[in-house]
Amino acid sequence: MRFVDMIEKKADGGELSGNEILTMVSGFVSGEIPDYQMSAMMMAIREKGMTPRETGQLTLAMMNSGDVADLSDLPGIKLDKHSTGGVGDTTTLAVAPLVAACGGTVAKMSGRGLGHTGGTLDKLESIPGTSVEISLDRFKEIVRENGVAVIGQTADLVPADKKMYALRDVTATVRSIPLIASSIMSKKMASGADAIVLDVKTGSGAFMRETEDAFRLAQMMVDIGTLTGRKVRALVTDMDQPLGMAIGNALEVREAVQLLAGQIPETDPLFRVCILLGVHMLIIGELAENEEQAEEMLKEKIRDGSGLKKLKEMIRLQGGDDSYIDPVKIEELVAVKQKIAVIPDHPGYVAGMNAEMIGTAAQMLGAGRAKKGDAIDPAVGIMMKCRNGDYLAKGKAICTLHVNDDRYLNEVIELMKKAVTISDQPGETRPMIHGVVTENTNYR
Ligand code: URA
Ligand code: CA
Repeated sequence: MRFVDMIEKKADGGELSGNEILTMVSGFVSGEIPDYQMSAMMMAIREKGMTPRETGQLTLAMMNSGDVADLSDLPGIKLDKHSTGGVGDTTTLAVAPLVAACGGTVAKMSGRGLGHTGGTLDKLESIPGTSVEISLDRFKEIVRENGVAVIGQTADLVPADKKMYALRDVTATVRSIPLIASSIMSKKMASGADAIVLDVKTGSGAFMRETEDAFRLAQMMVDIGTLTGRKVRALVTDMDQPLGMAIGNALEVREAVQLLAGQIPETDPLFRVCILLGVHMLIIGELAENEEQAEEMLKEKIRDGSGLKKLKEMIRLQGGDDSYIDPVKIEELVAVKQKIAVIPDHPGYVAGMNAEMIGTAAQMLGAGRAKKGDAIDPAVGIMMKCRNGDYLAKGKAICTLHVNDDRYLNEVIELMKKAVTISDQPGETRPMIHGVVTENTNYR
């Protein structure tokens, strides 16, 4: 079948065969299928959707478009976690070492931040010397020695996704559930994990603004994993406000260090999401029998300091200066020229936040990239001083800006005032954790 006929078939609501999907992915990667035809196909997919079979086959075709990491010589179940992208989401830096301290094997490949969301690799690189570009062999050595390592995806991992994502970004086809599911799962599966816990965000700072869509995306990714022999679970968590209080690279590392040092209260949203991610990693990793036991194991690794020790050792093995993995010493990494409190124009309740705007504000201060390859200032960012539902009396700040380059300072202050809605009423409060999706749930 000619590719134009396949586009027609999908646009008419038909189901593509496995062979057609393979032809599409390999043809696009090789350059035989031009961007304009692939754009039309992806728009047809965005409009008509894909069946679970089509989505599974697309994922496998994408996964097989490049290298597939073989971690089978590492002991135990290889665990990974993945977040669909958030603001102030520093969970990996806390959960990965905690799970390793509980005996898990955490071999994680992460991404960089783009746009309003942060990336684990950039956070790690804010610790002097730390390398995230490590060969697969060295990566495996570190995991074997310490139980945990976090590196960047190797260059040849899922080339189909790199090319498709770049095109989706400029053709309004990012927000398609099957395209997101196959993009994420192809990369997770190619990076060699046997068991994956996903954190699917919903709310103003997320790809999936509607909670039902987030559940559908979560179920689709769990189903793809199950169909291909992986154990996958997904949390659906809120991104209607930043998860942690810190937004910025070294600031988020500091928050993770504080969490591992037992300095963050158990009721804190970041703490709760970290523990829940860890709980499900321990269960699908067959390291705990039930949620209560798993939670107790994780909290014990905070109390006895072994989670923090794991992070310190991981940084040392990845070439970094591990003396910074200390709640006092890390203050040196967040030193900036000026700190500026943003005070709302009138007192009142925090009735809502736009997490995407807050992420963009941090990016404008230099914490993130406006485009690929832009330089990042690791020290700068935003410390939030309120959460949804809080009352801010006269003169109380929304946040503190941590600034080195004040080029966009006025715009950033205005953006933060716009991002946080102050009202006479507290407004609706949303749950932090919306639910857990497994192979046995049905959000199809
Ligand atoms: N993250 C990805 O890796 N891919 C998407 O399509 C969306 C979010
Ligand atoms: Ca993240």
